[in-house]
Amino acid sequence: MGGASLAFPSLLIATTCLAMAHRLPLSEYEQTIFLGMLPAIGSLPNNPPPRDPRRNYTERDPLVIVPGMGCSQLHAQLHKSDHSPLFICPKETGSSWIDLWVSLIYFLPDRERCWAENFVTIFNATARTYSSISGLIIEPVDYGGIEGLSSLCPAIKKLSAYFGPFFTFLQKAGYQPGFDLLGAPFDFRLAGPETVLSNGQYERLKSLVEKTYRNTGRRVHLLGHSLGAPYISHFLAMFVDQAWKDKHIASMISLGGPFGGASMALPYSVSEMNWRAIGMSRHLFAKALHSFACLPWMVPHPAIFGDAVLVETLARNYTAAAAGQLLRDTGHNKQAMMLEQARQFFFPERPPQATAHIFYGYNVSTPQTYRYEDMTSFDSPPTITRMEDGDGVVSLASLLACTRWNQTAAHPVVMHPLDGMLHADMIWKPALWDAILDIIAR
Ligand SMILES: *[C@@H]1O[C@H](CO)[C@@H](O)[C@H](O)[C@H]1NC(C)=O
Ligand SMILES: *[C@@H]1O[C@H](CO)[C@@H](O)[C@H](O)[C@H]1NC(C)=O
Ligand SMILES: *[C@@H]1O[C@H](CO)[C@@H](O)[C@H](O)[C@H]1NC(C)=O
Ligand SMILES: *[C@@H]1O[C@H](CO)[C@@H](O)[C@H](O)[C@H]1NC(C)=O
Ligand SMILES: *[C@@H]1O[C@H](CO)[C@@H](O)[C@H](O)[C@H]1NC(C)=O
Repeated sequence: MGGASLAFPSLLIATTCLAMAHRLPLSEYEQTIFLGMLPAIGSLPNNPPPRDPRRNYTERDPLVIVPGMGCSQLHAQLHKSDHSPLFICPKETGSSWIDLWVSLIYFLPDRERCWAENFVTIFNATARTYSSISGLIIEPVDYGGIEGLSSLCPAIKKLSAYFGPFFTFLQKAGYQPGFDLLGAPFDFRLAGPETVLSNGQYERLKSLVEKTYRNTGRRVHLLGHSLGAPYISHFLAMFVDQAWKDKHIASMISLGGPFGGASMALPYSVSEMNWRAIGMSRHLFAKALHSFACLPWMVPHPAIFGDAVLVETLARNYTAAAAGQLLRDTGHNKQAMMLEQARQFFFPERPPQATAHIFYGYNVSTPQTYRYEDMTSFDSPPTITRMEDGDGVVSLASLLACTRWNQTAAHPVVMHPLDGMLHADMIWKPALWDAILDIIAR
Protein backbone atom coordinates (compact mmCIF):
# COMPACT_ATOMS: atom_id res chain seq x y z
CA MET A 1 0.00 0.00 0.00
CA GLY A 2 1.35 3.40 -0.94
CA GLY A 3 1.38 6.41 1.34
CA ALA A 4 -1.67 7.86 -0.36
CA SER A 5 -3.87 5.04 0.80
CA LEU A 6 -3.01 5.44 4.48
CA ALA A 7 -6.28 6.82 5.72
CA PHE A 8 -7.23 7.04 9.31
CA PRO A 9 -5.35 4.38 11.19
CA SER A 10 -8.44 2.40 11.56
CA LEU A 11 -9.05 2.60 7.88
CA LEU A 12 -5.45 1.63 7.40
CA ILE A 13 -6.00 -1.45 9.47
CA ALA A 14 -9.35 -2.10 7.87
CA THR A 15 -7.97 -1.67 4.39
CA THR A 16 -5.11 -3.94 5.24
CA CYS A 17 -7.80 -6.42 5.99
CA LEU A 18 -9.40 -5.72 2.65
CA ALA A 19 -6.06 -6.12 0.94
CA MET A 20 -5.75 -9.52 2.47
CA ALA A 21 -9.31 -10.29 1.65
CA HIS A 22 -8.79 -9.51 -1.97
CA ARG A 23 -5.77 -11.72 -2.29
CA LEU A 24 -7.18 -14.31 0.00
CA PRO A 25 -9.84 -16.66 -1.29
CA LEU A 26 -11.82 -18.44 1.34
CA SER A 27 -10.49 -21.97 1.42
CA GLU A 28 -8.16 -22.93 4.22
CA TYR A 29 -5.67 -24.23 1.73
CA GLU A 30 -5.31 -20.83 0.16
CA GLN A 31 -5.18 -19.09 3.50
CA THR A 32 -2.19 -21.24 4.34
CA ILE A 33 -0.43 -20.25 1.15
CA PHE A 34 -1.19 -16.66 1.93
CA LEU A 35 0.26 -16.96 5.42
CA GLY A 36 3.47 -18.15 3.82
CA MET A 37 3.60 -14.91 1.87
CA LEU A 38 3.17 -12.72 4.90
CA PRO A 39 6.78 -11.70 5.50
CA ALA A 40 6.86 -10.30 1.97
CA ILE A 41 4.07 -7.86 2.68
CA GLY A 42 5.47 -5.10 4.82
CA SER A 43 2.33 -3.21 5.68
CA LEU A 44 0.46 -5.96 7.47
CA PRO A 45 0.08 -5.45 11.20
CA ASN A 46 2.66 -7.22 13.28
CA ASN A 47 1.03 -8.77 16.26
CA PRO A 48 3.27 -8.02 19.22
CA PRO A 49 4.40 -11.16 21.08
CA PRO A 50 2.30 -12.18 24.10
CA ARG A 51 3.42 -10.32 27.16
CA ASP A 52 2.79 -10.33 30.91
CA PRO A 53 2.17 -7.17 32.92
CA ARG A 54 5.39 -6.04 34.61
CA ARG A 55 3.92 -6.41 38.07
CA ASN A 56 0.78 -7.66 39.80
CA TYR A 57 -2.19 -5.38 39.92
CA THR A 58 -4.76 -6.34 42.53
CA GLU A 59 -7.02 -3.29 42.31
CA ARG A 60 -8.47 -2.95 38.85
CA ASP A 61 -10.84 -0.26 37.61
CA PRO A 62 -13.11 -1.22 34.73
CA LEU A 63 -12.14 -0.22 31.20
CA VAL A 64 -14.53 0.49 28.32
CA ILE A 65 -12.90 0.77 24.90
CA VAL A 66 -14.20 2.74 21.92
CA PRO A 67 -12.48 1.90 18.61
CA GLY A 68 -11.48 4.20 15.76
CA MET A 69 -13.23 4.87 12.49
CA GLY A 70 -13.72 1.69 10.53
CA CYS A 71 -12.54 -0.48 13.42
CA SER A 72 -15.84 -1.86 14.71
CA GLN A 73 -16.98 -5.17 13.30
CA LEU A 74 -20.49 -4.72 11.92
CA HIS A 75 -23.00 -7.37 10.99
CA ALA A 76 -26.35 -7.16 9.25
CA GLN A 77 -29.76 -8.67 8.79
CA LEU A 78 -31.20 -8.23 5.33
CA HIS A 79 -34.92 -8.08 4.64
CA LYS A 80 -34.95 -6.43 1.26
CA SER A 81 -36.53 -8.95 -1.08
CA ASP A 82 -38.06 -6.22 -3.23
CA HIS A 83 -35.20 -3.79 -3.15
CA SER A 84 -31.84 -4.97 -4.36
CA PRO A 85 -31.43 -4.56 -8.11
CA LEU A 86 -28.32 -6.70 -7.98
CA PHE A 87 -29.37 -10.31 -8.33
CA ILE A 88 -26.03 -11.66 -7.15
CA CYS A 89 -26.36 -10.05 -3.71
CA PRO A 90 -28.07 -11.76 -0.77
CA LYS A 91 -31.42 -10.15 -0.02
CA GLU A 92 -33.02 -12.01 2.86
CA THR A 93 -31.21 -13.44 5.86
CA GLY A 94 -34.14 -14.11 8.16
CA SER A 95 -33.08 -13.77 11.77
CA SER A 96 -29.43 -14.66 11.20
CA TRP A 97 -26.67 -12.09 11.03
CA ILE A 98 -24.16 -11.87 8.21
CA ASP A 99 -20.79 -10.17 8.54
CA LEU A 100 -20.70 -6.88 6.71
CA TRP A 101 -17.56 -5.18 8.00
CA VAL A 102 -15.17 -6.69 7.41
CA SER A 103 -16.18 -9.79 5.49
CA LEU A 104 -14.00 -11.45 2.93
CA ILE A 105 -16.88 -12.55 0.77
CA TYR A 106 -17.84 -8.98 -0.13
CA PHE A 107 -14.43 -8.24 -1.53
CA LEU A 108 -14.54 -10.95 -4.11
CA PRO A 109 -15.02 -9.54 -7.61
CA ASP A 110 -18.70 -8.66 -8.19
CA ARG A 111 -19.61 -9.02 -4.55
CA GLU A 112 -18.08 -5.63 -3.75
CA ARG A 113 -21.18 -4.09 -5.32
CA CYS A 114 -23.31 -5.85 -2.70
CA TRP A 115 -21.16 -4.38 0.02
CA ALA A 116 -21.33 -0.89 -1.45
CA GLU A 117 -25.10 -1.10 -1.80
CA ASN A 118 -25.49 -2.12 1.83
CA PHE A 119 -22.85 0.12 3.32
CA VAL A 120 -23.79 3.59 2.06
CA THR A 121 -25.89 5.73 4.36
CA ILE A 122 -28.83 7.89 3.35
CA PHE A 123 -28.62 11.50 4.51
CA ASN A 124 -32.00 13.19 4.70
CA ALA A 125 -31.16 16.86 4.24
CA THR A 126 -34.58 18.01 5.50
CA ALA A 127 -34.63 15.97 8.68
CA ARG A 128 -30.81 16.08 8.93
CA THR A 129 -30.67 12.40 9.79
CA TYR A 130 -28.60 9.49 8.58
CA SER A 131 -29.93 5.99 8.11
CA SER A 132 -29.13 2.69 6.47
CA ILE A 133 -30.97 1.79 3.28
CA SER A 134 -34.36 0.26 3.93
CA GLY A 135 -34.61 -3.45 4.57
CA LEU A 136 -31.29 -3.52 6.37
CA ILE A 137 -30.44 -3.73 10.06
CA ILE A 138 -26.79 -3.09 10.91
CA GLU A 139 -25.37 -3.64 14.38
CA PRO A 140 -21.89 -3.62 15.88
CA VAL A 141 -20.73 -7.12 16.81
CA ASP A 142 -20.70 -8.17 20.50
CA TYR A 143 -21.50 -4.83 22.14
CA GLY A 144 -20.17 -4.91 25.70
CA GLY A 145 -17.92 -7.87 24.89
CA ILE A 146 -14.51 -7.70 23.25
CA GLU A 147 -15.06 -9.74 20.10
CA GLY A 148 -16.17 -6.81 17.93
CA LEU A 149 -12.88 -4.95 18.30
CA SER A 150 -10.37 -7.71 18.96
CA SER A 151 -9.98 -8.05 15.21
CA LEU A 152 -11.52 -6.64 12.08
CA CYS A 153 -12.20 -9.74 9.99
CA PRO A 154 -13.85 -12.56 11.93
CA ALA A 155 -12.60 -15.01 9.29
CA ILE A 156 -8.95 -14.12 9.80
CA LYS A 157 -8.74 -12.97 13.40
CA LYS A 158 -5.00 -13.14 13.89
CA LEU A 159 -4.18 -11.48 10.60
CA SER A 160 -6.60 -8.67 11.18
CA ALA A 161 -5.94 -8.22 14.91
CA TYR A 162 -6.88 -4.84 16.34
CA PHE A 163 -7.20 -4.58 20.15
CA GLY A 164 -6.83 -8.36 20.50
CA PRO A 165 -3.20 -8.40 21.73
CA PHE A 166 -3.93 -5.62 24.25
CA PHE A 167 -6.95 -7.59 25.51
CA THR A 168 -4.78 -10.67 26.00
CA PHE A 169 -2.35 -8.57 28.01
CA LEU A 170 -5.14 -7.11 30.17
CA GLN A 171 -6.56 -10.56 30.81
CA LYS A 172 -3.14 -11.60 32.12
CA ALA A 173 -3.49 -8.72 34.55
CA GLY A 174 -6.79 -10.19 35.75
CA TYR A 175 -9.29 -8.32 33.59
CA GLN A 176 -12.46 -10.20 32.67
CA PRO A 177 -14.18 -9.50 29.34
CA GLY A 178 -17.80 -8.44 29.80
CA PHE A 179 -17.23 -7.64 33.48
CA ASP A 180 -14.47 -5.05 33.83
CA LEU A 181 -13.16 -5.10 30.26
CA LEU A 182 -15.75 -4.02 27.72
CA GLY A 183 -15.86 -3.02 24.10
CA ALA A 184 -18.16 -0.30 22.78
CA PRO A 185 -18.04 -0.82 19.01
CA PHE A 186 -20.32 1.48 17.03
CA ASP A 187 -21.75 1.94 13.56
CA PHE A 188 -19.20 4.53 12.48
CA ARG A 189 -21.16 5.18 9.28
CA LEU A 190 -23.86 6.88 11.35
CA ALA A 191 -21.57 8.54 13.90
CA GLY A 192 -21.70 12.30 13.33
CA PRO A 193 -21.45 14.79 16.18
CA GLU A 194 -25.17 15.54 15.98
CA THR A 195 -26.46 12.07 15.20
CA VAL A 196 -24.72 10.29 18.07
CA LEU A 197 -26.63 12.52 20.48
CA SER A 198 -29.97 11.24 19.23
CA ASN A 199 -29.55 7.96 17.32
CA GLY A 200 -29.10 5.78 20.38
CA GLN A 201 -25.31 5.35 20.23
CA TYR A 202 -24.54 7.59 23.22
CA GLU A 203 -27.57 6.31 25.11
CA ARG A 204 -26.17 2.81 24.71
CA LEU A 205 -22.68 3.87 25.84
CA LYS A 206 -24.20 5.56 28.88
CA SER A 207 -26.09 2.39 29.83
CA LEU A 208 -22.96 0.30 29.36
CA VAL A 209 -20.98 2.54 31.71
CA GLU A 210 -23.79 2.49 34.27
CA LYS A 211 -24.04 -1.31 34.13
CA THR A 212 -20.27 -1.65 34.50
CA TYR A 213 -20.25 0.73 37.45
CA ARG A 214 -23.04 -1.28 39.13
CA ASN A 215 -21.35 -4.63 38.50
CA THR A 216 -17.87 -3.63 39.64
CA GLY A 217 -18.61 -0.91 42.18
CA ARG A 218 -15.87 1.17 40.58
CA ARG A 219 -15.72 4.19 38.34
CA VAL A 220 -15.02 3.48 34.68
CA HIS A 221 -12.13 4.54 32.42
CA LEU A 222 -13.21 5.26 28.87
CA LEU A 223 -10.43 4.62 26.38
CA GLY A 224 -10.68 5.69 22.74
CA HIS A 225 -8.36 5.15 19.81
CA SER A 226 -8.32 7.75 17.04
CA LEU A 227 -11.93 8.81 16.27
CA GLY A 228 -12.88 6.88 19.42
CA ALA A 229 -11.23 9.61 21.52
CA PRO A 230 -13.24 12.61 20.25
CA TYR A 231 -16.25 10.27 20.29
CA ILE A 232 -15.68 9.96 24.05
CA SER A 233 -14.82 13.62 24.79
CA HIS A 234 -17.92 14.70 22.85
CA PHE A 235 -20.02 12.21 24.86
CA LEU A 236 -18.68 13.63 28.12
CA ALA A 237 -18.96 17.26 27.05
CA MET A 238 -22.39 17.12 25.41
CA PHE A 239 -24.39 14.10 26.53
CA VAL A 240 -23.99 13.52 30.26
CA ASP A 241 -24.05 15.96 33.14
CA GLN A 242 -21.37 16.68 35.71
CA ALA A 243 -23.03 14.68 38.50
CA TRP A 244 -23.20 11.63 36.23
CA LYS A 245 -19.53 12.02 35.23
CA ASP A 246 -18.34 12.48 38.81
CA LYS A 247 -20.21 9.36 39.85
CA HIS A 248 -19.35 7.03 36.95
CA ILE A 249 -16.17 8.18 35.20
CA ALA A 250 -12.62 7.73 36.50
CA SER A 251 -10.99 9.18 33.39
CA MET A 252 -10.96 9.31 29.64
CA ILE A 253 -7.85 7.96 27.91
CA SER A 254 -7.03 9.05 24.36
CA LEU A 255 -4.71 7.21 22.00
CA GLY A 256 -3.99 9.55 19.11
CA GLY A 257 -7.27 11.46 19.38
CA PRO A 258 -7.79 13.83 16.40
CA PHE A 259 -9.71 16.34 18.54
CA GLY A 260 -9.66 19.01 15.84
CA GLY A 261 -9.98 16.69 12.83
CA ALA A 262 -7.36 15.39 10.41
CA SER A 263 -6.15 17.07 7.22
CA MET A 264 -6.56 13.95 5.16
CA ALA A 265 -10.31 13.96 5.73
CA LEU A 266 -10.50 16.68 3.06
CA PRO A 267 -8.91 14.81 0.16
CA TYR A 268 -10.86 11.74 1.27
CA SER A 269 -14.04 13.82 1.07
CA VAL A 270 -13.53 15.28 -2.39
CA SER A 271 -11.61 12.65 -4.31
CA GLU A 272 -11.57 8.92 -4.73
CA MET A 273 -7.97 8.37 -3.66
CA ASN A 274 -6.21 5.24 -4.66
CA TRP A 275 -8.38 2.53 -3.18
CA ARG A 276 -7.67 0.33 -6.21
CA ALA A 277 -4.36 -0.36 -4.51
CA ILE A 278 -6.19 -2.29 -1.84
CA GLY A 279 -8.20 -4.28 -4.28
CA MET A 280 -11.57 -2.60 -4.20
CA SER A 281 -13.18 -0.38 -6.78
CA ARG A 282 -12.14 3.06 -5.65
CA HIS A 283 -15.35 4.49 -7.00
CA LEU A 284 -17.51 2.17 -4.91
CA PHE A 285 -15.40 2.68 -1.82
CA ALA A 286 -15.41 6.46 -2.15
CA LYS A 287 -19.16 6.50 -2.72
CA ALA A 288 -19.71 4.71 0.57
CA LEU A 289 -17.11 6.72 2.46
CA HIS A 290 -18.52 10.03 1.21
CA SER A 291 -21.89 9.12 2.70
CA PHE A 292 -20.56 8.50 6.22
CA ALA A 293 -21.51 10.87 9.04
CA CYS A 294 -18.09 10.41 10.66
CA LEU A 295 -16.16 11.86 7.71
CA PRO A 296 -17.33 15.50 8.18
CA TRP A 297 -16.58 15.09 11.90
CA MET A 298 -12.96 14.50 10.94
CA VAL A 299 -12.69 17.46 8.55
CA PRO A 300 -10.21 19.93 10.12
CA HIS A 301 -11.94 22.43 12.39
CA PRO A 302 -11.30 26.17 11.87
CA ALA A 303 -10.87 26.78 15.62
CA ILE A 304 -7.87 24.45 15.58
CA PHE A 305 -6.42 24.77 12.06
CA GLY A 306 -6.92 28.53 11.70
CA ASP A 307 -5.43 30.05 8.54
CA ALA A 308 -3.45 27.00 7.44
CA VAL A 309 -4.02 26.20 3.78
CA LEU A 310 -5.20 22.59 3.61
CA VAL A 311 -6.09 22.21 -0.05
CA GLU A 312 -4.54 24.08 -2.97
CA THR A 313 -6.04 24.22 -6.44
CA LEU A 314 -5.12 26.36 -9.43
CA ALA A 315 -8.12 28.56 -8.72
CA ARG A 316 -7.86 29.05 -4.97
CA ASN A 317 -6.56 27.86 -1.65
CA TYR A 318 -8.84 26.43 1.02
CA THR A 319 -8.47 26.72 4.78
CA ALA A 320 -10.49 24.76 7.33
CA ALA A 321 -13.07 27.54 7.34
CA ALA A 322 -13.45 27.15 3.55
CA ALA A 323 -13.90 23.37 3.67
CA GLY A 324 -17.63 23.68 2.93
CA GLN A 325 -16.81 25.84 -0.09
CA LEU A 326 -14.33 23.21 -1.30
CA LEU A 327 -17.04 20.57 -1.09
CA ARG A 328 -19.48 22.75 -3.05
CA ASP A 329 -16.85 23.75 -5.61
CA THR A 330 -16.21 20.08 -6.27
CA GLY A 331 -19.88 19.17 -6.59
CA HIS A 332 -20.30 17.58 -3.17
CA ASN A 333 -23.29 19.66 -2.11
CA LYS A 334 -24.77 17.03 0.16
CA GLN A 335 -21.48 16.63 1.97
CA ALA A 336 -21.28 20.40 2.36
CA MET A 337 -24.62 20.23 4.20
CA MET A 338 -23.38 17.32 6.28
CA LEU A 339 -20.30 19.33 7.25
CA GLU A 340 -22.33 22.39 8.13
CA GLN A 341 -24.51 20.26 10.38
CA ALA A 342 -21.52 18.56 12.02
CA ARG A 343 -19.92 21.90 12.81
CA GLN A 344 -23.01 23.10 14.63
CA PHE A 345 -22.49 20.30 17.14
CA PHE A 346 -18.74 19.86 17.18
CA PHE A 347 -16.77 22.04 19.59
CA PRO A 348 -13.17 20.84 19.88
CA GLU A 349 -12.48 23.32 22.65
CA ARG A 350 -15.39 22.31 24.88
CA PRO A 351 -13.95 20.43 27.87
CA PRO A 352 -15.22 16.96 28.80
CA GLN A 353 -14.75 17.88 32.48
CA ALA A 354 -13.33 14.53 33.49
CA THR A 355 -9.70 13.61 34.06
CA ALA A 356 -8.14 13.14 30.62
CA HIS A 357 -5.00 11.14 29.79
CA ILE A 358 -3.79 12.09 26.34
CA PHE A 359 -1.31 9.76 24.63
CA TYR A 360 -0.08 11.18 21.34
CA GLY A 361 2.78 10.72 18.91
CA TYR A 362 4.89 13.60 17.63
CA ASN A 363 8.05 14.18 15.61
CA VAL A 364 6.62 12.32 12.62
CA SER A 365 6.04 14.09 9.27
CA THR A 366 2.32 14.43 8.78
CA PRO A 367 0.56 15.62 5.62
CA GLN A 368 -1.05 19.02 6.05
CA THR A 369 -1.64 20.47 2.57
CA TYR A 370 -2.78 18.69 -0.58
CA ARG A 371 -2.61 20.06 -4.11
CA TYR A 372 -4.93 19.18 -7.00
CA GLU A 373 -3.32 19.95 -10.36
CA ASP A 374 -6.08 18.73 -12.62
CA MET A 375 -9.08 20.97 -12.22
CA THR A 376 -11.26 18.98 -14.57
CA SER A 377 -11.36 16.02 -12.26
CA PHE A 378 -10.79 15.42 -8.61
CA ASP A 379 -10.65 11.72 -9.26
CA SER A 380 -6.90 11.43 -9.04
CA PRO A 381 -5.10 11.46 -5.73
CA PRO A 382 -3.60 14.85 -4.85
CA THR A 383 0.04 15.56 -4.16
CA ILE A 384 1.13 16.51 -0.67
CA THR A 385 2.75 19.93 -0.67
CA ARG A 386 3.27 20.60 3.01
CA MET A 387 4.09 18.38 5.97
CA GLU A 388 3.59 19.23 9.62
CA ASP A 389 4.65 17.73 12.91
CA GLY A 390 2.28 15.06 14.17
CA ASP A 391 1.87 11.28 14.37
CA GLY A 392 1.93 10.62 10.63
CA VAL A 393 -1.85 10.85 10.29
CA VAL A 394 -3.01 13.59 12.66
CA SER A 395 -1.14 16.88 12.95
CA LEU A 396 0.03 18.18 16.28
CA ALA A 397 -2.43 21.08 16.24
CA SER A 398 -5.28 18.58 16.34
CA LEU A 399 -3.67 16.16 18.80
CA LEU A 400 -3.04 19.13 21.13
CA ALA A 401 -6.49 20.70 20.76
CA CYS A 402 -7.24 19.16 24.16
CA THR A 403 -4.73 21.54 25.78
CA ARG A 404 -7.36 24.24 25.22
CA TRP A 405 -9.89 22.44 27.34
CA ASN A 406 -9.00 24.56 30.30
CA GLN A 407 -10.44 22.08 32.78
CA THR A 408 -10.65 22.49 36.52
CA ALA A 409 -7.90 21.22 38.81
CA ALA A 410 -10.16 18.35 39.84
CA HIS A 411 -10.15 17.15 36.22
CA PRO A 412 -6.64 17.62 34.86
CA VAL A 413 -5.56 17.04 31.28
CA VAL A 414 -2.46 14.83 31.60
CA MET A 415 -0.30 14.82 28.47
CA HIS A 416 1.72 11.72 27.52
CA PRO A 417 3.89 12.71 24.52
CA LEU A 418 5.52 9.86 22.61
CA ASP A 419 8.45 10.73 20.38
CA GLY A 420 8.14 9.08 16.97
CA MET A 421 4.99 7.11 17.79
CA LEU A 422 2.89 6.47 14.69
CA HIS A 423 -0.86 6.94 14.87
CA ALA A 424 -1.72 3.37 13.93
CA ASP A 425 1.03 1.85 16.08
CA MET A 426 -0.27 3.02 19.44
CA ILE A 427 -2.47 0.02 20.08
CA TRP A 428 0.49 -2.31 19.49
CA LYS A 429 3.09 -0.93 21.90
CA PRO A 430 3.63 -2.95 25.08
CA ALA A 431 5.28 0.06 26.78
CA LEU A 432 2.03 1.92 26.26
CA TRP A 433 0.04 -1.01 27.64
CA ASP A 434 2.05 -0.77 30.87
CA ALA A 435 1.46 2.98 31.03
CA ILE A 436 -2.30 2.45 30.61
CA LEU A 437 -2.36 -0.28 33.25
CA ASP A 438 -0.61 2.12 35.64
CA ILE A 439 -3.53 4.50 35.16
CA ILE A 440 -6.36 2.00 35.52
CA ALA A 441 -4.98 -0.44 38.09
CA ARG A 442 -2.87 -0.51 41.24
C1 LIG B 1 2.09 -12.15 40.57
O1 LIG B 1 1.49 -12.95 41.58
C2 LIG B 1 1.63 -14.34 41.33
C3 LIG B 1 0.83 -15.10 42.40
O2 LIG B 1 0.96 -14.48 43.64
C4 LIG B 1 3.11 -14.71 41.35
O3 LIG B 1 3.26 -16.10 41.09
C5 LIG B 1 3.81 -13.90 40.25
O4 LIG B 1 5.20 -14.15 40.29
C6 LIG B 1 3.58 -12.42 40.45
N1 LIG B 1 4.13 -11.71 39.30
C7 LIG B 1 4.86 -10.61 39.42
C8 LIG B 1 5.36 -10.00 38.16
O5 LIG B 1 5.12 -10.09 40.52
C1 LIG C 1 -36.85 13.31 5.11
O1 LIG C 1 -37.37 13.73 6.33
C2 LIG C 1 -38.59 14.43 6.23
C3 LIG C 1 -38.93 15.03 7.58
O2 LIG C 1 -38.85 14.06 8.60
C4 LIG C 1 -39.65 13.48 5.71
O3 LIG C 1 -40.89 14.15 5.60
C5 LIG C 1 -39.20 12.97 4.33
O4 LIG C 1 -40.11 11.99 3.88
C6 LIG C 1 -37.82 12.38 4.41
N1 LIG C 1 -37.35 12.13 3.07
C7 LIG C 1 -37.04 10.92 2.67
C8 LIG C 1 -36.54 10.83 1.25
O5 LIG C 1 -37.10 9.95 3.37
C1 LIG D 1 -1.96 29.05 -2.62
O1 LIG D 1 -0.92 29.02 -1.68
C2 LIG D 1 0.37 28.82 -2.24
C3 LIG D 1 1.38 28.70 -1.12
O2 LIG D 1 0.78 28.33 0.07
C4 LIG D 1 0.70 29.96 -3.16
O3 LIG D 1 1.97 29.74 -3.77
C5 LIG D 1 -0.36 30.07 -4.24
O4 LIG D 1 -0.10 31.21 -5.02
C6 LIG D 1 -1.74 30.17 -3.63
N1 LIG D 1 -2.71 30.06 -4.69
C7 LIG D 1 -3.73 30.87 -4.81
C8 LIG D 1 -4.64 30.62 -5.97
O5 LIG D 1 -3.97 31.78 -4.00
C1 LIG E 1 12.84 14.04 16.86
O1 LIG E 1 13.48 12.97 16.22
C2 LIG E 1 14.86 13.21 16.00
C3 LIG E 1 15.39 12.12 15.09
O2 LIG E 1 14.84 10.90 15.41
C4 LIG E 1 15.57 13.30 17.33
O3 LIG E 1 16.95 13.51 17.16
C5 LIG E 1 14.97 14.45 18.12
O4 LIG E 1 15.51 14.48 19.42
C6 LIG E 1 13.45 14.32 18.23
N1 LIG E 1 12.91 15.54 18.76
C7 LIG E 1 12.20 15.60 19.88
C8 LIG E 1 11.72 16.96 20.28
O5 LIG E 1 11.94 14.63 20.56
C1 LIG F 1 -9.35 29.17 31.64
O1 LIG F 1 -8.30 29.93 31.09
C2 LIG F 1 -8.35 31.31 31.37
C3 LIG F 1 -7.26 32.00 30.59
O2 LIG F 1 -6.07 31.27 30.62
C4 LIG F 1 -8.22 31.52 32.87
O3 LIG F 1 -8.34 32.90 33.17
C5 LIG F 1 -9.36 30.77 33.56
O4 LIG F 1 -9.23 30.86 34.94
C6 LIG F 1 -9.34 29.30 33.14
N1 LIG F 1 -10.50 28.65 33.70
C7 LIG F 1 -10.43 27.48 34.30
C8 LIG F 1 -11.71 26.93 34.79
O5 LIG F 1 -9.38 26.87 34.46
